[in-house]
Amino acid sequence: MKVNGKDYRTVWMEGSVIKMIDQALLPHRFNVIDIKNLEELKKAINDMNIRGAGAIGAAGGYGIAQAALQANDADFFAKVNSAADELKRTRPTAQNLFTVIDGILKKTAGIRDTGKAREETVKEAQYYADLDAESCRKIGMYGAGLIKDGAKVSTHCNAGWLAFVDWGSALSPVYYAVKEEKKNVFVYVDETRPRCQGANLTAWELLQEKIPHTIIADNVTGALMWKGKIDLVIVGADRIARNGDVANKIGTYSSAVAAKENGIPFYVAAPITTIDPNCESGKSIPIEERNQDETLYMYGINDSGNYSRVRIAPEGCTALNIGFDVTPAEYIKGIITEKGIFQASEKGVEEILKGSINV
Ligand code: MRU
Repeated sequence: MKVNGKDYRTVWMEGSVIKMIDQALLPHRFNVIDIKNLEELKKAINDMNIRGAGAIGAAGGYGIAQAALQANDADFFAKVNSAADELKRTRPTAQNLFTVIDGILKKTAGIRDTGKAREETVKEAQYYADLDAESCRKIGMYGAGLIKDGAKVSTHCNAGWLAFVDWGSALSPVYYAVKEEKKNVFVYVDETRPRCQGANLTAWELLQEKIPHTIIADNVTGALMWKGKIDLVIVGADRIARNGDVANKIGTYSSAVAAKENGIPFYVAAPITTIDPNCESGKSIPIEERNQDETLYMYGINDSGNYSRVRIAPEGCTALNIGFDVTPAEYIKGIITEKGIFQASEKGVEEILKGSINV
C-alpha cells in the first residue's frame, strides 16, 4: 500500500518496537505509533488503534516476539506464555489473533534453549505477518475474476489493507481488478455504524488508491440493491466456522439477506487464518460486545479542525453495541481465499483447510 506515495504496511516491527498506523485518528490524521511493551499493545488493540482481523493477528504475533525479546532467560517461557494469554483476552471474535499466537507457540513448543526459542519466536511472528500480506495479494488475484469491467461493488466495514498487513481481503479483489487488470470499478462504501470503519477507513484507502466510490449510510444498501445499482457484494470475515457460517462486522447479515432477496452474488473474502477449525457453526462464534459510548457518541473533526466527540442520544439512554453478526452459509455464494474460491459449506471449508497451517 502507498500513503502519500510512500510504501507502508499496517503493522511491522523494528528491533523490539512494534510500529503501526494509528487507525483511531484516520482519516483526519496519519500517524505511526510505537508500541514498546505488552501493556501498550493490549491498549492499542482494545482501543482499536489497530483493528481488523489480519492486522490484529499480525500485531498479536509481534507482541509475542516482543515479549520473547524482552524476557530474561530465567523467565522466558513464563513471560511468553503470559503475553499470549493476555493478548488472547483483548478481542474475542477475530480468529486470526488466535491462529497466529497458537501457531507461534506450537512451532516453538519443543525448544528448550531460550536463545533458540527467542530467535524462532521472532522468525515465526514475521512469517505470519508476511503470510498475511501474501495471502491477501492472492485473494485479490482470485477475487478479481468475479469483478466485471464497470462493476459496482458493495462492501461493509473496512476489509482493506488497514485491516490486514497489506492488500486487504474484501478490497483486495477491487485493487487487483483496477491496478493489475485495468478494469473500471465503483465501490459503494457502507458507513458501518457505530465505529464508522467504512466512512473513516475504507473511504480513505480508496481515496489513496484513486478508486471511485461513495459512502452510504448502512440503511441505504438494501434500497440500492432493489434499484439494481449493485452488481456484487464482497465483505471480509472475522471468523469462519467449519460449516461455512461467517462472523463479520455487525450489519453484514442484513446486507447478505438483502443481496439474496435481490439475486446479487454475496462473497466473503478471507485468508485461511480466519477459519476456526474448532468452531462447528456460527452459533459457537464468540461475539464481542463493546462500550455503549461508541453508539451514543459520534467521533470526528469539527469545523475548527479539532478532533472531538459529540453525543447524539439523550442523556440517560443506554445503547447495545454488538460488534459482529453471523451470516449463515446459505447466503454466501463463495469464500475467496489465497487458494481460490470455495463453497461456503462444510465440504468447501474442509477443502480450504487441506494442508493449511491453521492450528
Ligand atoms: O472491529 P474491527 O474494526 O476490528 O472489525 C473487524 C473488521 O475489520 C471487519 O469485520 C472486517 O470486515 C473483517 S475483515 C478484517
